[in-house]
Amino acid sequence: MSAKSGPNLLVGIAFNAYDPLTANKVDRPSEESVEQTAKEVLTAVTELGYAAFIIPLQKSFMNFCQRLKTLNADVLINLCEAFLGRPQLEANVAAALELLGVPFTGNDSRTLALCLDKYKTKAVLKSFGLPTPPAVLAESPDQKINLPFPLIVKPNNEDASLGIHPESVVRDEDGLRRQLGHIQDVFGEPALVEAYIEGREFNVAVRDAEKTEALPVSEIEFEGMPENQPNICSYAAKWHPDDVLFQSTPPRCPASIDDGLRTLLQEIAVKAFSACECRDYARVDYRVDKKGRPFILEVNPNPDISLNAGYARALGAAGVEYKNFWKQMIDKALLRGEKR
Ligand SMILES: Nc1ncnc2c1ncn2[C@@H]1O[C@H](COP(=O)(O)OP(=O)(O)O)[C@@H](O)[C@H]1O
Ligand SMILES: [Mg+2]
Repeated sequence: MSAKSGPNLLVGIAFNAYDPLTANKVDRPSEESVEQTAKEVLTAVTELGYAAFIIPLQKSFMNFCQRLKTLNADVLINLCEAFLGRPQLEANVAAALELLGVPFTGNDSRTLALCLDKYKTKAVLKSFGLPTPPAVLAESPDQKINLPFPLIVKPNNEDASLGIHPESVVRDEDGLRRQLGHIQDVFGEPALVEAYIEGREFNVAVRDAEKTEALPVSEIEFEGMPENQPNICSYAAKWHPDDVLFQSTPPRCPASIDDGLRTLLQEIAVKAFSACECRDYARVDYRVDKKGRPFILEVNPNPDISLNAGYARALGAAGVEYKNFWKQMIDKALLRGEKR
């Protein structure tokens, strides 16, 4: 336990603020949600009896540093998922905090950078013997892809279902070329072309407190999905509450699954957490095919941690109070700071 705790502790809560001038309008709901998370975390931390304040990261990184310096928090809760609307700079924010010597909660810059590259993450998972769908990284829209249909085409370096739409699932060469061109035009980055796993979707939140443990498994249920739509968590399904795709993808935690599959998903999640050298918290996303074989889609080292999202739901299902989770994370960050 750290020497600094209780009412004397000053906690900063950093988040990337939505800025209409720098961000892409399409991303607005996912970008804006981080501010709401910051407010919820502020309430939780205040309930713990700590003095806390929010530090928005806006377009001037120097101003952000200046505020950090002036407020001089003992520890920072780092909710920053992007800079200038770009998730690719998420790791740079953590890296700057590391250089400044500010103890902060959540994953370090190396893990954040790794996991934002879906293809490299898959390579790491494979090297640890963990299952992930067969995939090819397409550097250009006309690259030959030696994988059988159906496939899903995703931007390789994004998160929050950015660039994921029903059309992302392709069943023939025309669809594949159309989507590769689309990723090139909209994101200007390589596309991950992956075997489309027909089946159920689960995610497992992992918490690294007294020990690294998997929380109860969640399922995204697709039962109400219109018949002409693929069963996926597209951007609209995640971020547009009025959309039929959102309404047809309700989460359920704990998932209704047999003990064998639950244990398997939880064991793999803990191994994936350690393979990606995660710390504090992360969420592992899966598809399970019709034969019951799990495939990891990705490891999220900076998952949506708001009260109405999957991670907090899993904490609730495990009987862990949101504020107590944050107390554990704060204590861990302080300990790391002391060791430094
Ligand atoms: N290989 C796949 N097979 C089936 N569905 C997939 C596959 N890859 C992605 N999806 C669907 O797309 C969603 C978003 O993909 P994911 O790789 O998790 O990216 P993000 O970082 O945007 O969450 C998943 O939740 C899932 O519904
Ligand atoms: Mg995901």
